[in-house]
Amino acid sequence: MQITVTINGVAVTRDVEPRKLLVDFIRTDAALTGTHIGCDTTSCGACTVLLDGLPVKSCTIFAVQADGSEVKTVEGLKQNGSLHPLQAAFKENHGLQCGFCTPGMLMVGSALLDKNSSPSDDEVRWAISGNLCRCTGYMNIVQSIQSAGAEMQGS
Ligand code: FES
Ligand code: FES
Repeated sequence: MQITVTINGVAVTRDVEPRKLLVDFIRTDAALTGTHIGCDTTSCGACTVLLDGLPVKSCTIFAVQADGSEVKTVEGLKQNGSLHPLQAAFKENHGLQCGFCTPGMLMVGSALLDKNSSPSDDEVRWAISGNLCRCTGYMNIVQSIQSAGAEMQGS
């Protein structure tokens, strides 16, 4: 069936099989490979995107369910060609090592900071609780998200 999903402000219209996952639509049909597939079973959160402003694991829903919706991926975070404050903060605070989890962490961080620009440790840890990182031990991810919030408040 034909669907249209607006991804990072660009309408993407394709014929898709009803069983196609949103993450495959994003990576294959829209050619946006920043959204990662870590598990395909709703466990890791590497595939997290914003669907109409809310973080979702895009391996968990079908592309047809996003028909008519707005999706934001990690590629949509950059602002006028510059890093988003979250991306800059992850770089500054060593919020990543291998980087595989990072797109998902950035998207849940972005959704959190949209609601609460000064989250506590516990609030950040709760927000990222659906996202696994095998490298960092999470501390630097928490610091990165808090640092980005402070930066965004100042700007
Ligand atoms: S790939 Fe979607 S949760 Fe792991
Ligand atoms: S930085 Fe490697 S999984 Fe998180």
